[in-house]
Amino acid sequence: MEQEFTGKKDYQLSEITVSASCPSNIALIKYWGKYDHQIPANPSISYTLQHCRTQTEMQFVPGEPFSVETWLAGKEEKKFAEKTEKYFYEIQKYLPWILDGKYIISTANTFPHSSGIASSASGFGAIAKCLMLLDEEFCGRHEEDFFLRKASFLARLGSGSACRSLYNGLVVWGQTDVVPGSSDQFAVPYPQEDIHPVFRHFNDWVLLIHEGQKSVSSTVGHGLMKHNPYAQRRFQEARENFSVLKSVLKSGDMEAFIALVEHEALTLHAMMMMSAPAFILMKTGTLEVISKIWKFRNETGLPLFFTLDAGANVHLLFPGNESADAIRTFIGAELLQHTQNQGVIKDEMKF
Ligand code: DP6
Repeated sequence: MEQEFTGKKDYQLSEITVSASCPSNIALIKYWGKYDHQIPANPSISYTLQHCRTQTEMQFVPGEPFSVETWLAGKEEKKFAEKTEKYFYEIQKYLPWILDGKYIISTANTFPHSSGIASSASGFGAIAKCLMLLDEEFCGRHEEDFFLRKASFLARLGSGSACRSLYNGLVVWGQTDVVPGSSDQFAVPYPQEDIHPVFRHFNDWVLLIHEGQKSVSSTVGHGLMKHNPYAQRRFQEARENFSVLKSVLKSGDMEAFIALVEHEALTLHAMMMMSAPAFILMKTGTLEVISKIWKFRNETGLPLFFTLDAGANVHLLFPGNESADAIRTFIGAELLQHTQNQGVIKDEMKF
């Protein structure tokens, strides 16, 4: 496998600029816990978003001493530059030319920086795409499947969930017998023909319950799974959930889909509470929104449900069809009040 990922080093360029855009994603079966070299402890699956994206421009000057300068929305970000430098050292064996020059990387997100939306998935996805564009320049070839697979492989080494952002639709990362061709090394699209049309257009409205920095980063959270007494059972359950999800996706059973997705979100946060030291990323508003969603669903039977990432914000999921009017009205009247600044990011998944 590593052989396949080794580029050539025979370029004659003085300066080159590439740019790429990459969306964020939201997991349905969560990745939480990993082994060395970014190997996930269980397979995960996510929906790729349409609007929350990172746009990255990478200027490379070959022959200069290795250095990385990073800019976010016009502001220099020295911390991100250090992280990127470290990342470039780590992936050198897969891109042999990578340390032979100077980089100026400018990024911008379509979502507000302070929103608490993780930019690492879209950010590393976009960087990996830029690196692959440079690699193509140096190697003089383009092959779409190889490009995406290697970009996903490289993105994973930056941030695990980023590897799923390279493909649209439902995307799987982590080996599972349920999805042929799935791998711990890179993500693969979930086979379209096995997805009922009802799951191919969904809204994801992110309620910004708490804006700003999280108290515990995902990386620290993953680390705490190492000694979590429930970890092995959790990893096993995620695998079992893949089998359940497979038949749900095929049959279009919305009720079972909702039950599985909400259970996964709550399990993620339960794992945080069972870590030592324990931590809680949900806020009062998160819990209020969840209980209102459950009440609304009991009363109306309408398919509004939620998932959470490693933070307080609530991702409101509902099918992207006309009958969603009552759901939109309910969100505006009942849920928006639990956000910090009336903050909601309206995204969707479509394929
Ligand atoms: C809760 O991919 O951010 O969003 O690999 O350490 O960068 P690192 O972690 P990260 O973890 C994401 C965790 C999650 C679940 C998921 O996206 O599957």
